[in-house]
Amino acid sequence: MQNFDFSNPVRIVFGRGVIPELGPAAAKAGRKALLVYGGGSIKKNGVYEALTRALRENGVAFAEHSGVKPNPVLSHVRAGVAKARAEGCDMIIAAGGGSVIDESKAIAAGAKYGGDVWDFFCGKAEVESALPLFTALTIPATGSEMNSGCVVTNEETRQKYSAGGPALFPRVSALDPEATMTLPREQSAYGAVDAIAHIIENYFTTSDADNAVTDELVHAVARSVIASTRRIMKDPKDYNARASMMWSATLALNGLANCGYGGGGFINHAIEHSLSAFYDIPHGAGLAIVIPAWAGKYLERGGRARLENFGRGVFGEATAEGTIKAMEAFFREVGAPVRLGELKIPAADIPKVAANAAATVKLWGMEMQQPEIEEILRAAL
Ligand code: NZQ
Ligand code: ZN
Repeated sequence: MQNFDFSNPVRIVFGRGVIPELGPAAAKAGRKALLVYGGGSIKKNGVYEALTRALRENGVAFAEHSGVKPNPVLSHVRAGVAKARAEGCDMIIAAGGGSVIDESKAIAAGAKYGGDVWDFFCGKAEVESALPLFTALTIPATGSEMNSGCVVTNEETRQKYSAGGPALFPRVSALDPEATMTLPREQSAYGAVDAIAHIIENYFTTSDADNAVTDELVHAVARSVIASTRRIMKDPKDYNARASMMWSATLALNGLANCGYGGGGFINHAIEHSLSAFYDIPHGAGLAIVIPAWAGKYLERGGRARLENFGRGVFGEATAEGTIKAMEAFFREVGAPVRLGELKIPAADIPKVAANAAATVKLWGMEMQQPEIEEILRAAL
């Protein structure tokens, strides 16, 4: 087990009816919020109503920045930065999924920065400070509610890049499992795939595989995501399944499941981000395609023992081949695509996607080259 330095300052309020807790918390941070949300799901499931009432009752004024799209885009982030400044907002409140929270983080940083917000994503500038951020999460998937990263697509250059830094941790995140009951079935599935992806990336790329506690945490979160999602697919109103899924997805990317691994890489994510940059597909759908293909190559390159370990801990599978099959079978079972062709992504595009992913790989300090990424993508045909 390697040395590590872990801290996570996010206050989580979790459970039925917790969204109004953001009112008093926001009132301590300032006077006027930019309320950021997406295409309107929060107006159908009561989140908008509960949140805005709590803000009014606690004397927090707000301006609205809606229309954040899944895979949020730079132009909309820039518009949000301009609005936050023009309206004199001293905090950001995000109500929605990872896309809304990520765009909110970018706006929170951009509003305190003299240059262009994209500088944070292409490595030109570090996030030194940001407006305080509060979130009401409506889809368990990304972990953005309890981490300090964000992902935005520059739609002109087709670069889907990330930024981060301690200033981007939300102050408070409210997680009400009931808010997730209106999720379309496929979004519940994609969220599950994403949570599994987060929990496995460092597990499989660790520089130290003798770390029983983190391995067992990974196994437990993966098992919980799988079991909860199966229950949700049967009964979308199953509160305890929704609750377990929501907390599992948060735990999958809040830093805990990495402690003691001595670093690792996010290779499936680097490749997927290029797929969603070009084809605007849901992140979880892209991951369900990349992961089985990547795992096959990982096995060829000496990953047998680690895959067996994961298989034993999560699926009761003794072999590496069986583990890969079980992962793919779960993705299929919940309705996620597992081959590029299912999303009509042609083989001819592979070099373009791989070149784009290779740039992300480099930015993230990983080592894989374009030909190897092409091989993985070809295995996903
Ligand atoms: O826009 P609205 O109307 O809210 O609809 C959304 C959207 O269409 C809908 N939705 C969300 N909650 C709902 C709901 N519909 C009904 N009921 C609810 N309760 O779901 C759709 C997808 O939402 P989105 O926010 O895009 O999903 P997700 O949370 O999966 O976020 C994906 C984005 O986060 C990035 C991804 O790359 C992608 O851009 N990621 C962020 C990470 C991070 N910050 O740590 C890590 C991840 O690896 C990931 O890269
Ligand atoms: Zn992800």
